[in-house]
Amino acid sequence: MKIVDNEADLKNILDAARAAGREIVLVPTMGALHAGHLSLVEAAKLGERNPFVVVSVFVNPLQFGEGEDFERYPRTLEADAKLLEAHAADLLFAPTVEAVYPAGSIGKITKHAGRVGLTLEGAARPGHFDGMLTVVARLFDLVAPDRAVFGAKDAQQVFLVTEMARADYPALTIQAAPTVREPTGLALSSRNRYLSTAEKLQAVELFGALRAASIELEAGVAASEVFEAHRRQLEIDAPKAKLEYLQLVSAKDFEPVSDDFRGQAILLIAAKIGETRLIDNLEVLI
Ligand code: PAJ
Repeated sequence: MKIVDNEADLKNILDAARAAGREIVLVPTMGALHAGHLSLVEAAKLGERNPFVVVSVFVNPLQFGEGEDFERYPRTLEADAKLLEAHAADLLFAPTVEAVYPAGSIGKITKHAGRVGLTLEGAARPGHFDGMLTVVARLFDLVAPDRAVFGAKDAQQVFLVTEMARADYPALTIQAAPTVREPTGLALSSRNRYLSTAEKLQAVELFGALRAASIELEAGVAASEVFEAHRRQLEIDAPKAKLEYLQLVSAKDFEPVSDDFRGQAILLIAAKIGETRLIDNLEVLI
């Protein structure tokens, strides 16, 4: 596996892969890779045109708000490279800040997430989705992939990236890959390493609530009823967790739905445990 940190080297390698007729597949990450990220690499490798899998590792300053964990976000490039090598990725693109944001463009937002970008995660983290879309668009411009793979774990992110791609990158396929979980049900996340053992147990309770709520919703219990019961129960089961939202949105447009909604929906949860913010979601058909 090759490792490059600049546009010129990236282009040379990609030109050769393209000339060989290979499908270029991008897996964008911020590093500190775990089995969730690696499942995206495996999904990327499946394709008819001998996929050439590019994994980007870049901790994007634009998508972190003030007081968030940009400085302390784990940076483990050497370990990441070993894992990617073991999973037979073709190229690790770990650009410098200058390669992503050339002179003068740092901090300049080029993509706006619109209305859905202001809700849920966007409400909790102002500017986050504009910063995320700006870097993802820049990566799409640098790599010019045929396909890009994202995790369903970040449901609002996948929704917004898919919307942007539809408008601005019509030839690009966005693929969503399922969430990888611990045996406890807890979704893998680079931020889990911030949790103490006691906090982790409460994080598991959050997933328990999410799963129970999804079963009740699919059995026809009204969303308002389900949410009220679980909010109350979580205060008992996970007293360290500060629930930020437990909400149901339509999978089609990410708009909140009312009790009489029927169709494909996404049940979303966000909570802060100590200093650590966790999110998760499940698809439900109601
Ligand atoms: P990061 O948090 O590193 O996640 C990179 C990709 O891995 C995302 O598509 C995310 O949804 C996916 N992922 C994370 N945990 C997962 C899990 N448990 N199972 C499956 N997939 C999982 O998301 C970002 O980085 C950034 O916002 C990025 C898109 C790279 C732009 O900076």
